[in-house]
Amino acid sequence: MTSKRILLIVGGGIAAYKSLDLVRRLRERGMSVRVVLTGAGAQFVTPLSLASLSGQEVHQELFSLTAEARMGHIELSRDADLVMIAPATADLLAKAAHGHANDLASTLLLATDKRVLAAPSMNLRMWLHPATQRNVATLRGDGMLFVGPGDGAMACGEFGPGRMSEPLEIVAAVEAALAGDTTIPLPLAQPPVLAGLRVIVTSGPTHEPIDPVRYIANRSSGKQGHAIAQAAADAGASVVLVSGPVSVPDPSGVKTIHVETARQMLEAVEAALPADIFIGAAAVADWRVGAALAEKLKKGASGPPTLGLVENPDILATVASHGRRPRLVVGFAAETEKVIDHAQAKLARKKCDLIVANDVSPATGVMGGDANTVHLVSTSGVETWPTLPKAEVARRLVAQLAALMGEGGA
Ligand code: C5P
Repeated sequence: MTSKRILLIVGGGIAAYKSLDLVRRLRERGMSVRVVLTGAGAQFVTPLSLASLSGQEVHQELFSLTAEARMGHIELSRDADLVMIAPATADLLAKAAHGHANDLASTLLLATDKRVLAAPSMNLRMWLHPATQRNVATLRGDGMLFVGPGDGAMACGEFGPGRMSEPLEIVAAVEAALAGDTTIPLPLAQPPVLAGLRVIVTSGPTHEPIDPVRYIANRSSGKQGHAIAQAAADAGASVVLVSGPVSVPDPSGVKTIHVETARQMLEAVEAALPADIFIGAAAVADWRVGAALAEKLKKGASGPPTLGLVENPDILATVASHGRRPRLVVGFAAETEKVIDHAQAKLARKKCDLIVANDVSPATGVMGGDANTVHLVSTSGVETWPTLPKAEVARRLVAQLAALMGEGGA
């Protein structure tokens, strides 16, 4: 493996001392290493050490006229076969996950067209914090590769995950990454694959009143359904989104109708027909209180009230058997166990073309979270996607639906 070029971003962590050895190990294998040192990184290792070991100028400033004259930051981000971050601190990962570009390292990460391999290094609580885990899930979804962190004693005296991998483990990960395709194609703007089509999406929970102030609800955030409505609109469809009560904003370029109950949701969906595609992503309450009270229920001597529940209409099943049935009817199946089995049963029972099934057990963090792991269940089989940001699940689902429409249905 000769003449491969590595752009190494050294972040501000105590593990930066291992990056000095990493530079040597990479060079021993015939790779050239160009180093970018963050401001925080320079608190731990010096530009002189890195320049001596790499044999090249170390880049530190985004707005450096002299450096920019020799090699612009865009060129710097692309003149490599692989971009490596070691140590990848919580701050660098957060910036990369959110697309910040306020220093040289973050700007390069946003501008590069090459694969990025990160070797995280931080205190175990910082690593295990949901914010860092969310950022890592986002970055994995964007295609970032990770090596480590390992478990072990930390410089701060604690013990656990967060230790940067050892230089030779990182070298092995670099070699593995270089063996694959290292250039990331430019994600082109969505082609209008649903142009001229009408799409109805339901999203969010429903609220079923008990009395004027209380209701039955569930934990659905509406993030996935809203992302699908947005992706369908971005793909050129004319979209009606029927949303239960959520705190996420209305998607842009989408006609959004706000409802509270399952019956209102059904009414709004039927009013929006005909359509070419129906996507039922809402977590519709299965039951409502048969006789919701007009006045607030009071505590009394007779003890807790008995709430007589009646079944709500099944919107998905109604649309799938409708006289004006859309060509594609897609349901969601949020399950906490036997995800695929239940989805297959639902596909048949509700007569839809496709079920997007996901595990919503509390440990998955799917409900309310930004990432989702889904299985596409249809009569032609099961397709499992990797864990992806909900927006990416939405884009891929739209692409799949466009392909099915092109084939003349599911
Ligand atoms: O039966 P279950 O609620 O698990 O099915 C989930 C799918 O059915 C989702 O697509 C959901 O939007 C839809 N559904 C519906 N109306 C109901 C219940 C579920 O449209 N009353």
